[in-house]
Amino acid sequence: MKNMKAKVLLVAGASLFASGVWAQEQLVRLSTPETSLVIDAPQGGELKYVYYGTKLGDADLKQIDAVRTCNHAAYPVYGMNTPAETALSVCHADGNMSTQLVVESVATTDGDKTTEVSVRLKDKVYPFYVNVCYRAYQDVDIIETWTEITNEEKKPVVLNQFASAYLPIRRGNVWLSSLYGSWANEGRLAQEPLEPGMKVIKNKDGVRNSHTAHAEVMFSLDGRPQENVGRTIGAALCYTGNYKLRIDTDDSEYHQFFAGINEDNSMYHLQKGETFKTPVLALTYSDEGLSGASRNFHRWGRTYKLAHGDKPRKILLNSWEGVYFDINQQGMEQMMADIESMGGELFVMDDGWFGGKYQRNTDNSSLGDWVVDTRKLPEGIEGLLRDAKKHHVGFGIWIEPEMSNTTSELYEKHPEWIVKAPQRDPVLGRGGTQVVLDLGNPEVQDFVFGVVDDLMSKYPEIEYIKWDANMAIMNHGSNYLTADNQSHMYIEYHRGFESVCNRIRAKYPDLTIQACASGGGRANWGYLPWFDEFWVSDNTDALQRIYMQWGTSYFFPAIAMASHISSAPNHQVFRTVPIKYRIDVAMSGRLGMEIQPKNMTEEEKEICRKAIADYKMIRPVVQFGDIYRLVSPYDRLGVASLMYTSPEKDKAVFYWWKMETFYNQHLPRVRMAGLDPAKMYRVKELNRIDNEPLPFEGKAYSGKFLMENGLEIPYTHKVDYHKLNDYASRVLYLEAE
Ligand code: GLA
Repeated sequence: MKNMKAKVLLVAGASLFASGVWAQEQLVRLSTPETSLVIDAPQGGELKYVYYGTKLGDADLKQIDAVRTCNHAAYPVYGMNTPAETALSVCHADGNMSTQLVVESVATTDGDKTTEVSVRLKDKVYPFYVNVCYRAYQDVDIIETWTEITNEEKKPVVLNQFASAYLPIRRGNVWLSSLYGSWANEGRLAQEPLEPGMKVIKNKDGVRNSHTAHAEVMFSLDGRPQENVGRTIGAALCYTGNYKLRIDTDDSEYHQFFAGINEDNSMYHLQKGETFKTPVLALTYSDEGLSGASRNFHRWGRTYKLAHGDKPRKILLNSWEGVYFDINQQGMEQMMADIESMGGELFVMDDGWFGGKYQRNTDNSSLGDWVVDTRKLPEGIEGLLRDAKKHHVGFGIWIEPEMSNTTSELYEKHPEWIVKAPQRDPVLGRGGTQVVLDLGNPEVQDFVFGVVDDLMSKYPEIEYIKWDANMAIMNHGSNYLTADNQSHMYIEYHRGFESVCNRIRAKYPDLTIQACASGGGRANWGYLPWFDEFWVSDNTDALQRIYMQWGTSYFFPAIAMASHISSAPNHQVFRTVPIKYRIDVAMSGRLGMEIQPKNMTEEEKEICRKAIADYKMIRPVVQFGDIYRLVSPYDRLGVASLMYTSPEKDKAVFYWWKMETFYNQHLPRVRMAGLDPAKMYRVKELNRIDNEPLPFEGKAYSGKFLMENGLEIPYTHKVDYHKLNDYASRVLYLEAE
């Protein structure tokens, strides 16, 4: 066997060449700048996973077999090894529950910045095909993988399980980092060692998918997770709907990781001739710890996924926490004038501006009736746009186009458009009247597209839309789908969503759109090709935001994380956090405000004015820089700290937030990261409130010193006695000389 001439397909960036090694093997290597994935695709045999990790050179690749302990299929299917967990499980047209896939061919396509490999698998008996697809990027360390499942059998094939991908992860001391939470507490970080048994991370909301859990995980391969060292695999399922991630630790040498659409109550009838494409799973590998994996996701996301990932975001004021439903022309103009006076660039009018027959004064009516409420805004959107122009700010508007209320003209006209089980009363959501529109229905898709299209064609100066979604699918049923295909409802909803978003983006490519969903319900890379950012949480409390933004930053860059200065006491947790601290936290994301400026003191406005001016200076570093998380709030050391560095390492912004205050407390001195050891960096404190500058203000230190020693940050602020409080935070701007 060993002496037989064999084909080896080495796919590295754009180059493809063959040489001889093992018999009947066809090793396929996909490489990014620092990583490689290797699979074995022998014609007529099973597609096998071989390797994923640091970039593999030709010499090591040739000898990989001698160190290969993994004999796992690259895409395990149900049927010939039934005790194992599988990625795909189908019932063939003739009732056969088993599938056996063998490699038919391997196709490679070189794109501008990517190499794609598609391995065509065919069932040994049935005309049933699965393409296992990979896309490797040449300039970012991400490999995307997904499948395309095609039925050429005589009748429909039932897909019972249809994961996007599978990855075996070598056992050792592997720890999992994942995000969990709830409304107003999104993006909480959980870290745990992987133990025998099955760990499942899932979503069944139907509409939103990141409140209670996230479709992204990291695996730390070298024991307890560390931020800046240690081999780390990251995985992000890019999907807008229900998902399921499974990690099965069975009796083998590998943890078995599966990720895909949640198949619960979503059995899919694949028609003859139909192809089902599963969502992309984006994989990354870094030997620079969790932060290294984050940087890979962020770079890839900004460059290839996020809408306008290369454009700086405007500093905005959103009206929600300032006025809630109390919208009127004068009030909106006053807020525009205030944000202009503080240096802001955009004003967003939130909920409460619409409604004809039914007025929207609270959350129990009018969704779907997207007409301006002229009782509140006699001069309509035109009047608001005129005022925005007068105050030199852009104008944005809130909509929730996938929803209606039973108290609405839309519902009166189209009760058949809502998601609801046949024969049953609708289950009502927010305000006791909210319902979800059935986006699987093309008429509903036209309507939802029309909500944006009407606004934008009437008022092309609108530059920002906050697209909200405040309800889950609560009872299963589509009036549009046939009785046989009711189990397609969740999938069709998201296909409909995708198609509407594509139409909107085709017509309005420059519009800024925020994905909001009762706060952070839509933080997933599946949304971000159409959305510029997401609202991290309805909880704007600065202290709790540190935890949420920390977790969220594992997978999403600051440019996408809307982070607003709000009032004190905070409206969700009623904590009174000083303005300095609120600013210092908000400035670590996409800065905005969510406050009634007329209730702010002149002193508060002045510090915000300065902060906004400084944010404009650091905006490129925060929004396009590389994240280095330094001290985790979850480690409960009394302090949390992170920094961003420019890609050239000539500028950096360092954040330090004290998390609690006790007398005679000893906080760790924070070592920086990501700097050039040889460069000298001059330190400048931003948002300073102290009467005296910091001892190191204006002084220059080497990157080496800052990374190996760090600066001594005072635990308190030197302010007048009556201004003392139990909070302390610092933002330092470092510029290389
Ligand atoms: C949701 C959003 C909020 C706000 C309200 C308006 O809760 O998350 O930011 O827009 O809806 O009703």
